[in-house]
Amino acid sequence: MKITIIGTGYVGLVSGAVFADWGHNVVCLDVDKKKVDNINNGIMPIYEEGLEELVKKVSGEKRFIATTDYRSAVEHGELIFICVGTPSNQAGAANLDYVFSASESIGKYTPEDDYKVVITKSTVPVGTHNKVREHIKIGAGDKKIKFDVASNPEFLREGTSIYDANNTDRVVIGSDSEKALSVLEDLYKHLDSPIVKTDLASAELIKYAANSFLATKISFINEISQICERTGADVKSVALGMGLDQRIGSRFLNAGIGYGGSCFPKDVEALYRTSSEYFYDFRLLRGVMDANERQRDYFVDKVFRKYGSNLSELNFGVLGSAFKNGTDDTRKSVAIAVIRVLRGAGANIKLYDPAALENSKKELGDDNIEYMNSSEEVFDKSDSVFILTEWPEFANLDYKDLVEKMNSKVIFDGRNLLDPLEMKKLGVEYYGVGRKEDADDTH
Ligand code: UDX
Repeated sequence: MKITIIGTGYVGLVSGAVFADWGHNVVCLDVDKKKVDNINNGIMPIYEEGLEELVKKVSGEKRFIATTDYRSAVEHGELIFICVGTPSNQAGAANLDYVFSASESIGKYTPEDDYKVVITKSTVPVGTHNKVREHIKIGAGDKKIKFDVASNPEFLREGTSIYDANNTDRVVIGSDSEKALSVLEDLYKHLDSPIVKTDLASAELIKYAANSFLATKISFINEISQICERTGADVKSVALGMGLDQRIGSRFLNAGIGYGGSCFPKDVEALYRTSSEYFYDFRLLRGVMDANERQRDYFVDKVFRKYGSNLSELNFGVLGSAFKNGTDDTRKSVAIAVIRVLRGAGANIKLYDPAALENSKKELGDDNIEYMNSSEEVFDKSDSVFILTEWPEFANLDYKDLVEKMNSKVIFDGRNLLDPLEMKKLGVEYYGVGRKEDADDTH
């Protein structure tokens, strides 16, 4: 199939490369010339496991190219995927300007006798398909064009997105056109995954409902961690016991400093806004968002309770600034938010992250922050060390050796990566999230 992808962010670039790998002929469009040139030269705008190799492979096989030329890109695709960003506007609703301007350009450059299936992959509020349709018509002007719209939400997780695209739990496609549904079904039918064919509104809502549900699961276990701290229970044991119930499942039950990233905070907020627009007060989601903020504040309060509100004499080592492990992405990272608060109270920060240092520098600058080359460097003369991102390598450091280098042996583990009992044996004053002081993770 001939496929055009509009937008070369995570979703667009990964989807384009994966479709090309499936044997299709893909053109990726972006308005940013430098980004496009880089992609064509094998330099990726994002860090994503396996992406560079895949793009190089499919480019070499002449099945993938990036361009800034809207006309040729739109003319190329029988299927045109809109994968542009939908950032939150100030009121917390999704800003659809990029989606609509892409739709208008599709209308503008679609030749009169061609048929296009225009698919939104970006996460867009329920009902957006009607507006996409209108904007395509606005772009077409007096020209008569043939097209159908469809929704095909994306469930990729950053860090594992190429794997996810090939091994998705399900494919969701929504359209009011049988023809569009069948073209999309053809695209995905080789995957060993169920395909949910539905109407446009349901497809659009599935994405928000799924992300909001996962965020709810995280906020739920975070709330449980608060009860654990007050009752002497241990949140890891509680999560283990809950998660073995197959109706609940063990994933997304890791308590910590809250969820971040470019999806969950934005999508939960947007679903809450959409509900309000339809005169429904989705109170559960309000609670999910509140719990997420409180979880971060509560973690920071532990630091202030120990050290007081003026941290200016203190050196704090920080492990992790990405919003989660496996990515260089720091957008809406709770780790970055925590670092800002600690620095705001005067602390000197020594930060290490295996992938996100460059993005962290852009967000945090150099004031009171030193960027380190390894976890080991972070421990050197730190008064406290904070684990803020769940990189597995932070769980496997030689802590016996490392804590010797600290001024005082204090660790705040915002991701519950370490074993409280082991820390106790090493003489560490250990603060986890909802952990029992002497919980033993080796069982
Ligand atoms: C998410 C969805 O998982 C994916 O399906 C969707 O397409 C995009 O949004 P992503 O944002 O890449 O993916 O990250 P995810 O792995 O879901 O983690 C989101 C946040 O939740 C991170 O900040 C992570 O640290 C946090 N998290 C996750 C927890 O705090 N506890 C958990 O148990 C799981």
